[in-house]
Amino acid sequence: MSGRGSNLVALGDALAPDPGVAIAVVISDRDAAALEAAGERGWPTHRLVDHTDGTEWLAALEAAEADLVVLAGYLRLVPADVVRRYRGRIINIHPALLPKHGGAGMYGLRVHRAVLEAGERESGATVHLVDEEYDRGTILAQGRVEVKAGDTPERLAQRILTVEHRLLPAAVRAAATSGTPVPFAFT
Ligand code: GAR
Repeated sequence: MSGRGSNLVALGDALAPDPGVAIAVVISDRDAAALEAAGERGWPTHRLVDHTDGTEWLAALEAAEADLVVLAGYLRLVPADVVRRYRGRIINIHPALLPKHGGAGMYGLRVHRAVLEAGERESGATVHLVDEEYDRGTILAQGRVEVKAGDTPERLAQRILTVEHRLLPAAVRAAATSGTPVPFAFT
């Protein structure tokens, strides 16, 4: 992760009662608030020295015996050797209805500005598999919200974030049940 970590916290809190699922390690490319939140909750953390170094990622993931990699607000490309090793087992959450409004540089309020500028009547959040490109892997599920008259990027972001906080735990639960990330129904 790269930022404030609200999805991380929502995910960890939602999964806490489930004995079959645990956060193995929280990895960040920067000194993010998310790392602090993880530390407070007793989740192991790893601050990447070099986010482009797949060997460092793989060492941290393997030491933690991670089965699934969840990108929750991670804004950079995952190194290709990590994608290769964990292919089909890396998921990302994006705050729009992919394939629209994704790709390099599309994160944070830029996404919601683009949605409003395009005159979309609905937006939402997408959970998808991660491959070598930004926001292009198989879509597993989407949560939809109406775009309302008078919406600002900030208001739309907030409404979508509440959906993200339910969608990401649902994706991890579905993956845990099936043994691998799978498409699932979300309402
Ligand atoms: C979330 O809205 C997530 O969907 C987005 O970053 C935010 C992180 O918030 N990710 C992307 O835009 C990826 N392209 P958080 O740190 O509070 O979870």
